[in-house]
Amino acid sequence: MNTAVDNKDKKTSPAACVPAHVAIIMDGNGRWAKSRLMPRSYGHLKGMERMIGLLEHAFDVGVRYVTVYALSTENLSRPKEEVDALFGLFRKYFNEYARKIIERESRLCILGDVTALPSDIQDMVAEIESQSRRFEGRCVNIALNYGARDEIVRAVNLAAERGEKVDKESFSSLLYTGGQPDPDLIIRTGKEKRLSNFLLWQAAYAELYFSDKMFPAFSDKDFDAALKDYASRERRFGKV
Ligand code: IPE
Ligand code: IPE
Ligand code: MG
Repeated sequence: MNTAVDNKDKKTSPAACVPAHVAIIMDGNGRWAKSRLMPRSYGHLKGMERMIGLLEHAFDVGVRYVTVYALSTENLSRPKEEVDALFGLFRKYFNEYARKIIERESRLCILGDVTALPSDIQDMVAEIESQSRRFEGRCVNIALNYGARDEIVRAVNLAAERGEKVDKESFSSLLYTGGQPDPDLIIRTGKEKRLSNFLLWQAAYAELYFSDKMFPAFSDKDFDAALKDYASRERRFGKV
């Protein structure tokens, strides 16, 4: 689905300069910690705190859908100690943050294969997904054990099981993001310039923004700078 506005609309409506859906590849926690002679887990802790602040800020400035890439399918193959530390942080912060989501009457969706996660985490996320399902208009997607290739293969299999032929719209609806607008803007922190298996289908016409800042150092002002850059882009969607 495409909700993006063209440049002509942007000029007539300032609110249209704010992307409806921003997705963030939160990269650089480990290098940020290393540069401070701290363990990688400290970088993840600071990254988690920054993520919560940034999600609040994104809603404050009018973004309606925010997707954060918290853990890729590939990240699960990192050393057990690191993966366990990430799950520990999730356990510590999730409920507190989930309450904020509910207070702001927004929806929480998990993108990814949750069945491979520890069972207590599966229970935590299922509870908030069901509590927040009634809210419309604002949504936080947390990509957790997410891989775009897995997501696409899963959608193909769902269609095959139903014996359905798909078109672009019906295929989109089978993805984890089914029913949501595609991301207008994808921000990646941490200097790398790649998508690392993130939203490969949904990113077809997303604007890309790369920041050299490591994620724990990516401030609200840096986010605003990304939105400003986005507002200056001309989105043509293949047209003239
Ligand atoms: C991103 O930071 C967070 C996760 C992938 C979980 P990294 O852990 O990839 O940090 P760098 O890229 O090694 O610095
Ligand atoms: C992408 O970062 C995944 C997340 C931010 C969760 P990675 O650190 O895993 O990506 P690569 O390995 O640099 O491509
Ligand atoms: Mg990384």
